[in-house]
Amino acid sequence: MKKTLSFNYEEFSSASRMLPEDQELVAAALDAQKGSYSPYSQFQVGAALRLANGLVVKGANQENAAYPSGLCAERVAMFWAGANYPDVPFDTLAIAGSDHGVLCESPASPCGACRQVMAEYQKKHKTPLKIILVGSKRIRKFACVDDLLPFIFDSLTM
Ligand code: THU
Repeated sequence: MKKTLSFNYEEFSSASRMLPEDQELVAAALDAQKGSYSPYSQFQVGAALRLANGLVVKGANQENAAYPSGLCAERVAMFWAGANYPDVPFDTLAIAGSDHGVLCESPASPCGACRQVMAEYQKKHKTPLKIILVGSKRIRKFACVDDLLPFIFDSLTM
């Protein structure tokens, strides 16, 4: 039997149409791009993660001459939060990607490895992790990781 899976997300034409706390996180993700070390790809990614205690932590992609040794912006932020605030759930993660310094019109989408890491923390904290993908023409918001990574092993039912 053929089946179809659908998922939901919101799309905004600009951050000004979003909740004030989301606007703040979008600005933090854009600011976090300044910390990108991306001499090889020239693709600057910034991530801002709001924790359930209100703290916002930032990450940026870090590249290396031995390519696989680098790390995506969102994993830099999540691993830092996981290491320093192991018991504090993740609330919302905003990600912004720029190509040669120009913010992508359509938001950059997280890689599969980052989605798997998001899923792990969502499961660990038993709290839905909201995700905001920032582009200059469109901003997309997902209510939980399941909407970015269907059929997650041991997915939360929300
Ligand atoms: N990158 C991220 O930091 N996050 C993503 O979601 C996608 C890709 C980084 C990895 C690498 O430094 C550069 O962007 C180009 O792939």
